[in-house]
Amino acid sequence: MSAIVNVGLVVLAAVVLRQWLLNDSQTSAQLAETLNSSYDYIVVGGGSAGSVVASRLSEDPYVSVLLLEAGEFDGDRPQVFIPGLALLNLRSNFDWWYMSEPQDGVMTGLKGGRSYWPRGKILGGSSSLNAMQYVRASRHDYDRWAEYTKDEGWSYQHVLPYFKKSEDIQIPGLQNSPYHGQGGPFTINHLKSQPLSAKIIQAGQAAGFPYNEDYNGRTMEGICNSQVNSLNGERMSTGRAFIHPVLGRPNLDVAVRAQVTKIVIKNKKAVGVEVIKDGRKCVVNANKEIILSAGAVNSPQILMLSGIGPKKHLESLKIPVVVDLPVGQNLQDHMFFDMGVRIREPLTSAWQDFKNWWSQQQFKWFGTGPLSSPFNLEVLAFKSTTKETKEKDWPDLEIHFIEIMPNNILMDIFNYAEETKAELADRNRGDYGFTCLPSIMRPESIGNISLKSADPFDYPLIYANYLAAQEDREVLIRGIQECKKIVNAKPLQDVGAEFTEKGPESACKQHRYDSHEYWECLVKHRALTIYHPIGTCKMGPKGDPTAVVDPELRVQGISGLRVADASIMPWLVSGNTNAPTIMIGERAADLIKGKKLPPLDL
Ligand SMILES: Cc1cc2nc3c(=O)[nH]c(=O)nc-3n(C[C@H](O)[C@H](O)[C@H](O)COP(=O)(O)OP(=O)(O)OC[C@H]3O[C@@H](n4cnc5c(N)ncnc54)[C@H](O)[C@@H]3O)c2cc1C
Ligand SMILES: *[C@@H]1O[C@H](CO)[C@@H](O)[C@H](O)[C@H]1NC(C)=O
Ligand SMILES: *[C@@H]1O[C@H](CO)[C@@H](O)[C@H](O)[C@H]1NC(C)=O
Ligand SMILES: *[C@@H]1O[C@H](CO)[C@@H](O)[C@H](O)[C@H]1NC(C)=O
Repeated sequence: MSAIVNVGLVVLAAVVLRQWLLNDSQTSAQLAETLNSSYDYIVVGGGSAGSVVASRLSEDPYVSVLLLEAGEFDGDRPQVFIPGLALLNLRSNFDWWYMSEPQDGVMTGLKGGRSYWPRGKILGGSSSLNAMQYVRASRHDYDRWAEYTKDEGWSYQHVLPYFKKSEDIQIPGLQNSPYHGQGGPFTINHLKSQPLSAKIIQAGQAAGFPYNEDYNGRTMEGICNSQVNSLNGERMSTGRAFIHPVLGRPNLDVAVRAQVTKIVIKNKKAVGVEVIKDGRKCVVNANKEIILSAGAVNSPQILMLSGIGPKKHLESLKIPVVVDLPVGQNLQDHMFFDMGVRIREPLTSAWQDFKNWWSQQQFKWFGTGPLSSPFNLEVLAFKSTTKETKEKDWPDLEIHFIEIMPNNILMDIFNYAEETKAELADRNRGDYGFTCLPSIMRPESIGNISLKSADPFDYPLIYANYLAAQEDREVLIRGIQECKKIVNAKPLQDVGAEFTEKGPESACKQHRYDSHEYWECLVKHRALTIYHPIGTCKMGPKGDPTAVVDPELRVQGISGLRVADASIMPWLVSGNTNAPTIMIGERAADLIKGKKLPPLDL
């Protein structure tokens, strides 16, 4: 009940705030209501990658581009642009609201044994509802892609210029860094709404994390304030960065509420798409190419609906097979585990702060305060926890800190079951606190996404296969130990930090409290996604039977069709996935244009 009242008041705050926001003079009047019968390029999905692809392709006034987005226009939605209201977008009309399938012995503490998978269904895609953390991941991630695909274009040297191209770094100390770009549409800043952040960083240093002012620079290892995609405290989604400024281009049509149900394929050539726009079905033709950017859940879904996918699976659903490819396989995701911490001093926001007058004034006049902060995520730590990862300088652990008491609002987002929630709510009392969230960077467990039926409106089935590999559980358990070291370090002890967990949780009380078995049990019980699924239209070397697309992102065995989004990653990168996905969009656009940026050897 109180959660509902909270959310209600926050909506009211949003209405009050909206008059000062979004004066980009971008209105829905510039959207395409009727579609032409053909375009040179059709981009499916206006999310993190699709917005970039459509924006860059339409820079050439001699080509025509159509961007089709299933969700709504974002420009008139204050809760998208006020970061502190991000949670209003979860389980809303702007969210596909997926759920993973239950899995034996894992996620037993979650409602229905399922992890809740938010995915943006709005212009900007998941970048319109995510936590805005700007992380590029490790150079080794890209060098690994390059080595595997036999295409040096994916190596760190070659992708770094694409990260920089998007970027407008606004953090004063980093503006002269060779790793950062200026003048791009995607603005990057620090967030400093939570006084506790400084204590967490000091405690991290005391616990052995070096202070690293730029995890997007030479090395990731260490702890610091996170870099976020924001501008004057507002969210910088890809819709806002890449699409709003170009809505007036005569050669670009942006259509919302336009869901693609199928790619039309003739003689192994993709020639058009079937789309349902505002409830009416039509076919639009592509003179040159179709670029699928519907994300790691929907890109494989659309391919399979179009007859591109695992032969046996498609036959079982009576979908005529066009090309037999491992679409939907190779699903990988980051997971985290939540450890509640209470503090004595009022150094974090309390939940009621989001709706008070002072917070609104801070946000309105200075772009600061709790409303500028997405889920109060303002500090990140990265660590190489094994001998091998240390030698390589390739962190396998990331720690997020959500600087607010993990109350029922957060637990509902985590999809905890009623019993889990009740037990944790009882522990997580108090106004001020945070949660320490260790997460696995390079999971070995691999799942799949498959179709439930041939109906494009049936949600696909998500078999995450979480924590199947022992090493994935071990990374989380090592992460729990790191959280303990940080919380027990003096700077946090000085403000009275204590784990809210004092004894065993009932789900794992058969094990000795605090033993390895205990934590392994608890991790299996209630670890959950941090929303970074990738890999379901895997990129590989030409002809590789485990790959869906080649290194130029062309679907194998079909012409005129590429995939450009998080689904092409062959392996999950060691960091949050938004910036890497935007990079993929930038590079895809150049691959289509037949251009490339010179490498940068840093
Ligand atoms: C709650 C949450 C928090 C996150 N926090 C962070 C973070 O802090 N930092 C970070 O780096 N990453 C974060 N991520 C992950 C990151 O946002 C995603 O990895 C990234 O946005 C994926 O980009 P994409 O282009 O692959 O897909 P998306 O951005 O999801 O875009 C896909 C788009 O395609 C549209 N679409 C789907 N199907 C169809 C169809 N049939 N027809 C037409 N359009 C269609 C969708 O509506 C959507 O707009 C978070 C994600 C979530 C959900
Ligand atoms: C929006 O910006 C324009 C020009 O930048 C300005 O003239 C106008 O007053 C602004 N509107 C609001 C509501 O602030
Ligand atoms: C759609 O067709 C009209 C009429 O031919 C044309 O003027 C317009 O430029 C086309 N739109 C795009 C985005 O190419
Ligand atoms: C997906 O994974 C599930 C669970 O492991 C398995 O039963 C199913 O056959 C897989 N589906 C496909 C199409 O690979």
